[in-house]
Amino acid sequence: MIDPITAQKIKDAADIVEVVSDYVNLSRRGANYMGLCPFHNERTPSFSVNRRKNFCYCFSCKKGGSPVNFVMEKEGLSYHDALLHLARKYGIEVQERELTDEERAEQSEREAMLVANEWAMLKMCKDIFDTQEGRDIGLSYLYGRGVTEEAVRKFNLGYALDKGSALTSAAKSAGYDINILKSLGLVGTSKEGREYDRFRGRVIFPIINSAGKVIAFGGRDLKGGMAKYINSPESNVYKKSNELYGIYQARADIVREDKCYLVEGYLDVIGMWQSGMRNTVASSGTALTDGQIALIHRFTENITLIYDGDAAGIKASLRGIDMLLNHKMKVKVLLLPDGDDPDSFARKHTSEEFRKYVAEHETDIIRFKAQVLLADIKKDPQKRIEAVNSVVQSIAHIADPVSRDVYIQECASILGIQEDTIAKSVARVRGTLVEKWKQDRIKREFPITSESAQTANPAHPSGNGGNMPAGISENTQPLKPLSKIAYSSPMLPLEKVVIEYCLKYGFLELCTIVNDDNSETSVSVLDFVSEELEADNQSFSVNIFDRIFRLLKDMKEEYAVAYEHFSQKLDESLDRQRKEGIEKIAASDLSVIEIERAEKKLENELESKRAEDLIEFSKDYPGRQLASHEDGEVRYVVTELIRERHQLSHIYMRDNNYVERDEDRLSQLVPRAMTEWKNELLNLRLKELFSRFHEISGKGDTEEESKLMMEMNAIMRLRSQVAKDIGDRILSPRSKTIR
Ligand code: CTP
Ligand code: MN
Repeated sequence: MIDPITAQKIKDAADIVEVVSDYVNLSRRGANYMGLCPFHNERTPSFSVNRRKNFCYCFSCKKGGSPVNFVMEKEGLSYHDALLHLARKYGIEVQERELTDEERAEQSEREAMLVANEWAMLKMCKDIFDTQEGRDIGLSYLYGRGVTEEAVRKFNLGYALDKGSALTSAAKSAGYDINILKSLGLVGTSKEGREYDRFRGRVIFPIINSAGKVIAFGGRDLKGGMAKYINSPESNVYKKSNELYGIYQARADIVREDKCYLVEGYLDVIGMWQSGMRNTVASSGTALTDGQIALIHRFTENITLIYDGDAAGIKASLRGIDMLLNHKMKVKVLLLPDGDDPDSFARKHTSEEFRKYVAEHETDIIRFKAQVLLADIKKDPQKRIEAVNSVVQSIAHIADPVSRDVYIQECASILGIQEDTIAKSVARVRGTLVEKWKQDRIKREFPITSESAQTANPAHPSGNGGNMPAGISENTQPLKPLSKIAYSSPMLPLEKVVIEYCLKYGFLELCTIVNDDNSETSVSVLDFVSEELEADNQSFSVNIFDRIFRLLKDMKEEYAVAYEHFSQKLDESLDRQRKEGIEKIAASDLSVIEIERAEKKLENELESKRAEDLIEFSKDYPGRQLASHEDGEVRYVVTELIRERHQLSHIYMRDNNYVERDEDRLSQLVPRAMTEWKNELLNLRLKELFSRFHEISGKGDTEEESKLMMEMNAIMRLRSQVAKDIGDRILSPRSKTIR
């Protein structure tokens, strides 16, 4: 772990223009820099980089963010590794932090598992060459299938001796914890409680992750047993759906060729490797998952699926393509002649022949789909409709509008349908898809638990929650699933507006309050929102908003220091400019009056520049900090919110003259947003009481009835007061920065 001070140092050092320049040719465009987006193919630049905000953004594919986000995305790194990457770039020395006990325990368990796996792999690799049984049974099977010795060594293939518990005993005497070997699935326990080698008598295919760690094994049966393969179970070190067989051996070649072949089995990978197609991985006989696609995407965008040319192979190739398209992968498919799998085909042909076959036969997946379906249609109109719909569905998953158009044209001609008809359907389907993705994303990123929706209830002003605001769960907890009711809660958009104001304008002045002694106190947006919430014992019901809000409040002191520092630097620079300006004026041959006027003008300019720069600094500060926050969820949501603003200020820039800026009317906007939020909470409570009243009315429980009536009346009074209260508190609506 990187200690927080060093992490901050790295984030402070990382300059978005410098970081992006390692990948993109930037040119200056007004206050921003522009270049060709490194995340998608384009001919006109839509990638904008703003040095002051330390933020980049693609107006077309919408990717971007802080320097950390950029590096994560571009290099396919974790947050931690992205920081290390930036530390290297800026020559910052990193001493990794000591882990907490909990982290150490988890890490040491993981490490123990990896060490044990490594040991087991080496033992089985050794046994296949160095024991009679290994050679006679394991090695001779592999050689019989055309696997070379070189490949056996490259892929660390091995053999598990068929001796009941040979591996188990060896592990014990080597000092390994048997429980670890059990959790790895290397050792099993029989009904009678005896320990045995799970993989015994099998040829072993170690599964090695992209970092070179042995995370699992596949063991192939050699005796015609029931299970052709047994595989390691899921564990702390092996999440099947995120791994691909062969990725470790293939990764460098995938990058070099900028292309990845995907096959089904272990032996297919090895066969391809032997015939020189070394950029090959296998999904191990299961349908491709999101995690696996993301793994490939770290190394290339181009993927070719290779399947048997039989009906099953064709069907398999059509599965999951929408998901691939969705990941912005360029997908091709290659069918081998019927009866061949990659392994057998590779053995029958030289690598030149194989490459030639690939070049001539690989087909773009959507075109392929259209052709396959067309062959299937014949004269059945029902089938024809289904085929068209299915192709439309696939095209709709493509992110790039230009490619979509190309496919629409082509598929229209393949399927013999009007281009316009297909285009319209695609547009409709894409609309639904985009909406669905949005909803999914909101569900994922902005969870409201039914619990928190209930507790965030201002109608209990005396509140049972004590000081603990409602809806806060432990920061590190995984997102709670959304209950349906909670999800339909109208709170999300209302809270989003408020948190957005806090993030963008939290440190700007909302208003000043005149104290009893006639002195004035400045109230920042953040102060105002905090006080309002506290007064009503209310809080954000959306967990992530609550978390961001608390981070913002915790940032106050740090901000004050940074503000001081910035304004000093600014003053120094303005002093220099003032001096230069005055010298210039003095050197000109103006009259005394004109000189006075010119100096006054200079002074005014500098003063308004100072004010503007300070506001900009305050506005950018929270975003600059939180868009690189260590918590991925915080980073994500903040980045989303800043993006919207980034786009907005783009518009402001163009129409600077007549668009009124938010920051000039905070004293209207923020209280209004708070009022709307509060009103909605009251409405909800009212609705609840109303339906409760409806339920019990006329059933004779007059006491309960009148209690409900009273509460409803109270809420209605409260509701009409809400707006008034807020209005009264604002004495001098004006916004400037707060010190
Ligand atoms: N597989 C598995 N469990 C099975 C069958 C298959 O995990 N019972 C996975 C393996 O990763 C295997 C892949 O699916 O490599 C492809 O299956 P298959 O083509 O049947 O196996 P091959 O590896 O090609 O082996 P062989 O050619 O010897 O049949
Ligand atoms: Mn096979």
